[in-house]
Amino acid sequence: MPAQILKPTGEAIALACDILRQGGLVGLPTETVYGLAADASNPAAIARLYAAKGRPAFNPLIAHVESTDMARQIGVFPRPALTMAQAFWPGPLTMVVQAMADCPVCDLARAGLETVALRQPAHPAARRVLSQFGGAIAAPSANPSGQVSPTSAEHVAADMADAVDLILDGGPSMAGIESTIIDARFDTPTLLRPGSIDTEQIEAIWPGLFHAASDPKAPRSPGQLQRHYAPTNPIRLNVTAPQGGESFLAFGAMDGTANLSASADLVEAAANLFHMLRALDKMGQPIAVAPIPNHGVGEAINDRLNRAAQID
Ligand code: TXA
Ligand code: MG
Repeated sequence: MPAQILKPTGEAIALACDILRQGGLVGLPTETVYGLAADASNPAAIARLYAAKGRPAFNPLIAHVESTDMARQIGVFPRPALTMAQAFWPGPLTMVVQAMADCPVCDLARAGLETVALRQPAHPAARRVLSQFGGAIAAPSANPSGQVSPTSAEHVAADMADAVDLILDGGPSMAGIESTIIDARFDTPTLLRPGSIDTEQIEAIWPGLFHAASDPKAPRSPGQLQRHYAPTNPIRLNVTAPQGGESFLAFGAMDGTANLSASADLVEAAANLFHMLRALDKMGQPIAVAPIPNHGVGEAINDRLNRAAQID
């Protein structure tokens, strides 16, 4: 039976928590993208989640928490990581830290690693679910593994309707691109995935950021290795003059089938990226994308586009 889509009323939040407690899956709005939520401590629920996404079990999940206090019961936070939590939580920053010996996030959700990825989301509906549920919630983006991430309840319904028990409709995701992931275990941080919080913002709080994302030999998040974020149709990047028969995703003062931001605002472009890619993909033609400046959140946009364009 296709999943119900409900606005996040008190009743719907309570229903979402019941479903999570029973080992079910919930489409959960966050400020970055929609998540496919499950009880992080329940291996059966996590196994169901991996199956629903078609996600390889070596690729660990982010555990979402209600507070820094909850995060500290799950992972070991060195002093600078706590300062980062203070600066960016709730918000689109994920920190990879050493897992506690009695870590409530199950092994399967952590893909057997000794580390755990944690974030406190800012979306009000996600926060209400987390505080009423009372434990950590594992939530990858609610799309089939490797495909374009969802930024609305409709996207989740289109991709995952049969796999989820309920979708909470919290409106379009404000940031539209996933959280920034850093390894926060050591004296200086390492960028594992560029995201919604840009590197200048991180540097301002915790200097010395090591840019793993731009070094092919450096450590990354396991999920960052494969082709990812990919539409069905072929995608060509850094295009200034599209060919006949291509849909064109423009940026700035140019004409296109759609424009990520006519005013060349990268934050607006990030918010538009996934829903415009989905819309163009539906037209059934190859997709050409304009050059995107590589500063600010442009780094995360280019990261997603490069992976989408990668041939397996
Ligand atoms: O914005 C987001 O982060 C969204 C929303 C729903 O919170 N979630 C998301 O999850 O993007 P997902 O599963 O699509 O991406 C999580 C990334 C993967 O690349 C995974 O490899 C990495 O986090 N990750 C998880 N645990 C890790 C760990 N212990 N060490 C390194 N990377 C880890
Ligand atoms: Mg994802």
